[in-house]
Amino acid sequence: MPRIHYKNYSDSNTERNARACNNSRSLLMILTVAIIFGAIITVSPLQKIAAQIPDSFTNLKTLPKDISKKELVDMMKGFTFALGVRCEYCHVGDPEKGLSGFDFPSDEKEHKRMARIMLQMVEAINKEHLAKLRDGEGAKMKVECVTCHHGLSEPKKLETVLAEAYADDGLDAARMKYDSIRAEYYGGHSYDFGERTLLKFADELADDNQTAGAIEFININLEYYPESGLSYYTLGNLYEKLDKNSEALKNYEKALEFFPGAPPILQKIDALKK
Ligand code: HEC
Ligand code: HEC
Repeated sequence: MPRIHYKNYSDSNTERNARACNNSRSLLMILTVAIIFGAIITVSPLQKIAAQIPDSFTNLKTLPKDISKKELVDMMKGFTFALGVRCEYCHVGDPEKGLSGFDFPSDEKEHKRMARIMLQMVEAINKEHLAKLRDGEGAKMKVECVTCHHGLSEPKKLETVLAEAYADDGLDAARMKYDSIRAEYYGGHSYDFGERTLLKFADELADDNQTAGAIEFININLEYYPESGLSYYTLGNLYEKLDKNSEALKNYEKALEFFPGAPPILQKIDALKK
């Protein structure tokens, strides 16, 4: 097994959080706020985890055997943040009973074994490939788990998830998937809820001759982005495809409000008016 340099993977947010919690003044402030609002704050960061895991490690096959406990715990916290999971995703144990009952050295879980391969992959990307940039001076930044995973165990794009739901169970399933993902993840770093995602998915539907479905999804996009000229333009195209020329014209004219004087839109309008 190749040995790898672990510093690259510790998640900088986790380190920042740890520093913030060590700062007794901010802790005092948090406690005061908690008391005022009668809220129950779960103080769970690194110290609490560290207290529950052994001081020495017995089954490290990829990480350096002399890794300190703090560095290992930092890295493991980084994994959970990067993948949006908890320790039991990779380790055998019952979270209800606390981490001290976990069998961390066990390799029983497939995800733990996959994570080792990922560690080696990330090492190869950083050491073999990124290091060659700028005539061997190296990259300015390193790839970490979060670079690809951004909070998801399976790092899929939103339009891919929708396309899969659509392929498996049809349009309604894709719509429900979108609503549920949006409800759960909006505002986080996992999925792109920007203007173009649903347009890309609508493109795929249109390519599959699902014109009505494509129109439905663009209308959903317009609920969130009422000023999306691109959405109106795409609607124009789709209605044209359906030979609904007056609907097409209406949408091109709406698009023109957001892109005044844009030649492709003007051409479409001219052609339809003939
Ligand atoms: C994405 C998978 C993944 C997650 C999530 C994860 N770990 Fe790990 N953990 C690993 C891998 C892989 C190793 C073994 C690394 C090696 O072989 O060098 C490991 C090793 C360990 C070890 C050392 C075990 C030993 O004695 O060999 C401890 C302790 C540990 N993890 C604790 C945790 C804790 C605590 C959490 C939750 C905060 C956690 N891990 C979350 C993948 C994970
Ligand atoms: C270059 C992008 C990239 C980086 C960096 C990366 N991963 Fe992954 N990871 C993937 C992709 C893509 C998959 C999905 C592979 C598949 O199953 O088809 C994946 C899958 C996984 C899985 C299995 C998920 C499942 O349910 O099938 C685990 C666990 C995992 N990665 C952990 C990690 C950890 C831990 C790190 C950091 C050490 C990491 N990954 C870094 C791209 C990446």
